[in-house]
Amino acid sequence: MRKFQVIGYPIEHSLSPWIHGQFMDKVNIEGEYTKNKIKPDHLKEEFLQMQKEGVEGFNVTLPHKQAILPLLDELDDTAGKMGAVNTVAYKEGKWIGYNTDGIGYLRSLEQAYPELFAKKDEIKTLILGAGGAARAIFYALYKNGFASIDLANRTLQTAKQITGLADRNVGNTLTLSSAEQSIAAYDLIIQTTSVGMVPNDELSIIDISNVKKTAVVSDIVYQPMETKLLHDAKEAGAKIHFGYTMLLYQAQAAFEIWTGIRPEIGDMNQQLKQMLEG
Ligand code: ATR
Repeated sequence: MRKFQVIGYPIEHSLSPWIHGQFMDKVNIEGEYTKNKIKPDHLKEEFLQMQKEGVEGFNVTLPHKQAILPLLDELDDTAGKMGAVNTVAYKEGKWIGYNTDGIGYLRSLEQAYPELFAKKDEIKTLILGAGGAARAIFYALYKNGFASIDLANRTLQTAKQITGLADRNVGNTLTLSSAEQSIAAYDLIIQTTSVGMVPNDELSIIDISNVKKTAVVSDIVYQPMETKLLHDAKEAGAKIHFGYTMLLYQAQAAFEIWTGIRPEIGDMNQQLKQMLEG
């Protein structure tokens, strides 16, 4: 019986046990994946307890994504660049930290719009926001070879810290108002902040009405599923991408780290959508 967990505080609403339960069934792995609610100041002792109980891998969510770092033996390149870990695996006597948020987002986008990936050296991408999610998505796009990635944020300085992760010049940082003015220049626009999430679902981080009809607009907010930004993008004739699917693919990447097997997503997309819509 293999043991996996997700740790966080709060953790009640985590969908990870459902996702990983499905994965284990699909690939015939006998195991359990449980929620472990750990208060911020109990992380160290609880981690030791997990080791005693034989947990071999776990996901990490708020508020432990950074606090777990000093307790681990190694970080992979991406987790190091993010300064945050969402997946931990015990391998050859070492606890190793990974961050699968970026690759999870990338896979979900590629699944929906493979044509973007075929043209990654031609298209212009704009990321809105400069928090943890923006950092993960920027770095994943950059590592994957997307040639032009601009970053717009309310606070320019934070945006510059993210573009500084790239060792080639991939793009510029800009204010939200200049992003709005030049929105028609972009082929892929990714909204990474919480703006537009319930109960503030009447808000949109920028006015997207001048977006190109051929562009793809993506929003990582999934409450509501179709945010005002996505609604307006659709009205303007653009294509849209629902960010909730990244939950499945970041879990898939974590599962692969633990087991070496990449499970099929199949109709889990549809099932997850129904669960999120209640
Ligand atoms: P996470 O780590 O989950 O991505 P975060 O670090 O809190 O979240 O990042 C929040 C992002 O949303 C930041 O880019 C923030 O802008 P600032 O860097 O200027 O703070 C952005 N953000 C949050 N509320 C916003 C708002 N009302 N308008 C514009 N941007 C907002």
